[in-house]
Amino acid sequence: MTAVKLLEDKPLGPEHFANARSPRMYDFLLGGHDNYQCDREAAFAVYKIANWIKTAALINRDFALLSVETSLALGVRQFLDLGCGFPNAPNVHEISAKTHPGCPTVYVDRDPAVYAHAQFRLDESPAQTVMHADLLATEQLLTNKAVAAAFDLTKPVAVLLHDTLPWCHEDTATRNAMATLRKWMPAGSTLSITHLTDHWHGAIMPDVVSSYAGHGLRVRPRCREEIEEMFGDFTQQGPGLTATGRWHEQGRYTRHPDTHSAAFAGIAVKQTPPSATGSGRNPSHQP
Ligand SMILES: C[S@@+](CC[C@H](N)C(=O)[O-])C[C@H]1O[C@@H](n2cnc3c(N)ncnc32)[C@H](O)[C@@H]1O
Repeated sequence: MTAVKLLEDKPLGPEHFANARSPRMYDFLLGGHDNYQCDREAAFAVYKIANWIKTAALINRDFALLSVETSLALGVRQFLDLGCGFPNAPNVHEISAKTHPGCPTVYVDRDPAVYAHAQFRLDESPAQTVMHADLLATEQLLTNKAVAAAFDLTKPVAVLLHDTLPWCHEDTATRNAMATLRKWMPAGSTLSITHLTDHWHGAIMPDVVSSYAGHGLRVRPRCREEIEEMFGDFTQQGPGLTATGRWHEQGRYTRHPDTHSAAFAGIAVKQTPPSATGSGRNPSHQP
């Protein structure tokens, strides 16, 4: 495993244990142990307003399996997990390893505790890279030599952003980061996003946002159009951009009500630019 640090560690102060953190709160909702009292209190406070929050976390986590399987079926064999959160079996490389062992996988998170846990709890396969980095410093991240060493950019890369972008509350910075990312992705790459939305819960979402804020977390639910825009001109796959739970009706999974997802999920493919095909048509559509 390669471990790369692009962010400075701040000394752990009292606020570390007083304010909830998104990976720890998510870990609590998934039934994990990497959380503190402040994270559990924050989760309970949101639960009182939005009792779907735990189900939504479970639906989101299960979507990782569907996402990796979908990318593998599309021929993608390299993975970039942005905002990976604490290791949680099965991790992305473990899902792909079931059918394709050794797929290069880069895990990125800005949370120092996630970075520490990922280094010590993921297995030591040389195909894995763990990075402590901010995805909003996108150029710095993508041009890092560890990323260049991990990926063959003549081949597609699956980029996963599952419940990461709602924690990027600044719209312009997020939009710019997504544009840089899409440009960097080779043709045939897949972009997989899940994102909290006010689409089904417009009446209570302001209270949900306030409750998070009261526990030190800035969350930014987005509407369908804003989430759609993050995919640029990529081509949506499967059921298209829809409630995360709807993806679960495919294959062996059970569908969940849209209101329980409280999030949109999409997996979209970057097409080959017309100039690269020579004919202005995508080669996969040629006879
Ligand atoms: C709710 S967790 C989701 C974990 C995982 N993606 C999943 O779906 O199971 C959100 C994660 O995104 C990370 N995150 C949020 N904003 C980020 C940023 N700008 N750069 C890197 N990581 C970020 C958080 O630290 C956290 O670990």
